[in-house]
Amino acid sequence: MSAIEFLLNRQSNGFLRAPAPNTTDLDVILTAALAVPDHAGLNPYKFHIIENQGLAKLTKIYVQAIKANTDDQLKLEKAKKMAYRAPMTIVVSTHYQHHPKVPKQEQLITAGCAAHAMQMAAGALGYGAMWRTGDLAYSDIVKTGLGIESGNDIVGFLYLGTKSKELTNKPRRNHDQYTEYWN
Ligand SMILES: Cc1cc2nc3c(=O)[nH]c(=O)nc-3n(C[C@H](O)[C@H](O)[C@H](O)COP(=O)(O)O)c2cc1C
Repeated sequence: MSAIEFLLNRQSNGFLRAPAPNTTDLDVILTAALAVPDHAGLNPYKFHIIENQGLAKLTKIYVQAIKANTDDQLKLEKAKKMAYRAPMTIVVSTHYQHHPKVPKQEQLITAGCAAHAMQMAAGALGYGAMWRTGDLAYSDIVKTGLGIESGNDIVGFLYLGTKSKELTNKPRRNHDQYTEYWN
């Protein structure tokens, strides 16, 4: 598949099982993250790679965050299963730097590009991946539990694994309504 075909056919896949990306493939995935556009080269991101026992630790943090906000048992039960949707989660967060020419929003974009690059790299290596957020991405308890420095943002939870189901390709959409040409 050409690079253009790969780009045009990209698709998330949340049907994931073990094995997770192995060490060699994970290295490629993380290297792709660091190859994204980055104004002033600030590396304004941080990646927590969570698998195996780490999934249980992450679940404890999720449970703590849910319990602090609600006594809804359904939400609690859902939170207990979340981390196990895939054998590996990469939590992508910002690591904002002070820079006179690079506002936080640009740094957030770079961290988002890193998440996308990792999803694409995982796809190129044959893995499935799904980028999710939800309330837990905006929880201070989750951020603190992960040791994410105050004032930073969780950009997403990138679920990674082996596809347990192949999805049919979504039709690609026409871009006319989003474009304006000035010639
Ligand atoms: C920042 C961000 C957060 C997202 N959060 C969720 C989420 O919590 N749950 C979800 O089902 N999809 C979420 N998505 C969307 C999926 O990752 C995916 O893009 C969507 O299901 C469309 O599928 P596609 O990527 O194959 O086009 C999020 C996407 C982005 C960029």
